[in-house]
Amino acid sequence: MLPLVASLLVAGAGGVHAQQLLDWSPEEVRAVGQHGPWPPPRVRDPSNRVSGTPAGIALGEHLFNDPRLSGDGRMSCATCHQAGREWSDGLARARGAVELDRRTPSLWNIGYLHWFGWDGAGDSLWAQSIRPLLDPREMSGGATRAAGLLRGDVTLACGYEKAFGSKPGTDDEHLLVDTAKALAAFQATLVSPRTSFDDFRDALLAGDRERASGYPLAAQRGLKLFIGEGNCNLCHLGPRFTNGEFGDIGIPFFVRPGEVDQGRLGGLGRLAASPFNLLGKYNDDATANSTRRTRHVQRLHSNFGEFRVPGLRQVGRGGPYMHNGSLDTLEDVVRHYSEVSPDRLHSDGIALVRPLGLTTEQSADLVAFLRSLGAEPPARPTPPPLCP
Ligand code: HEC
Ligand code: HEC
Repeated sequence: MLPLVASLLVAGAGGVHAQQLLDWSPEEVRAVGQHGPWPPPRVRDPSNRVSGTPAGIALGEHLFNDPRLSGDGRMSCATCHQAGREWSDGLARARGAVELDRRTPSLWNIGYLHWFGWDGAGDSLWAQSIRPLLDPREMSGGATRAAGLLRGDVTLACGYEKAFGSKPGTDDEHLLVDTAKALAAFQATLVSPRTSFDDFRDALLAGDRERASGYPLAAQRGLKLFIGEGNCNLCHLGPRFTNGEFGDIGIPFFVRPGEVDQGRLGGLGRLAASPFNLLGKYNDDATANSTRRTRHVQRLHSNFGEFRVPGLRQVGRGGPYMHNGSLDTLEDVVRHYSEVSPDRLHSDGIALVRPLGLTTEQSADLVAFLRSLGAEPPARPTPPPLCP
């Protein structure tokens, strides 16, 4: 069936050219609407007392860029999460002291998640920020490093006092957690820019046909596939294009011969064993609300081989893709969904993906839509001095 097309003439910079708006049913308009508004309202993390505070954010930004937090003084968070590379590193697998088994995820819109890491081993942004500081394959700095730096560096000590209301104390583990809480406050400010998709969504919802028709036809067709036949928004849901949960789309999980990445199953084991999870003593939330998910999550065999559903904003500006960087381009990702064999799904949960068998044009449309979810972020100002 051919979609109905309404033609409009729009005067663009290069003269008058035809733009078109596909026909959108009320159900489709509703489905498109749930991928916004953008930017979303700011959220505060009740488990982190410096979340959303200017002094916590400022301290966090300085620490994020400080290589002295690592064992050899050479690696900072920004080594792998680079502002100019969509807060990732462009590598298939992260390179720390050794090459890791997973790709560095982008930190865009990270403050809106509830599980962290590809396997959900972290239940808060601050707990997740502790991991690279301790991991011998990553920064390997440890609590002594972080604590010594906060106590010994006059500027950081002053920034700490502004953020936390007292001078850095003598308990190293406590200072490690506070370092991570400041890092989390900063990371939660990383919200990706508005895109041509957002302009289209707002115009469509407002019934502004002229503005909506500025969105390229290929992207419109791709979006229809995304919310329709493709069923992509089963998992890539909401304003960030992720439900924040875990799924299995048949990406091979072998890391070395005979060794697999268990994904969510392993992550849940690590979450339960962590002294820094939300059930532990470092949660700043006096109510039980923030612990609900961690208390109720169950470790099921169907979690084997599941990985967190990535958000798709800025996705076309990044890559390689997937938890192990195994697909190079968006075209490869779309080919995967077009051809995936149900036999490749390893989790024994309900299979939610099936081979879509897309035509060449449909594949190109889907890629055009995914690319429309990205835009050039505004240049970042140099962080102001912590304690002038
Ligand atoms: C050697 C490269 C490297 C360094 C250095 C590094 N990271 Fe990461 N980061 C990764 C990788 C790889 C993952 C995925 C880990 C996983 O899934 O187990 C990750 C995951 C994360 C996540 C979770 C993202 C998500 O989508 O859930 C956060 C938050 C994060 N890092 C913050 C930090 C902070 C803060 C620092 C500095 C203290 C840091 N990282 C240092 C490579 C790095
Ligand atoms: C069953 C849930 C589910 C469905 C349905 C689904 N995805 Fe995904 N998607 C995921 C998961 C989980 C990953 C990460 C898998 C991994 O890393 O092993 C992912 C990864 C991706 C990535 C790579 C992102 C990155 O940063 O690496 C893109 C792009 C993507 N999906 C687009 C789509 C499109 C387009 C569709 C529809 C054709 C779709 N997805 C359908 C769950 C899903």
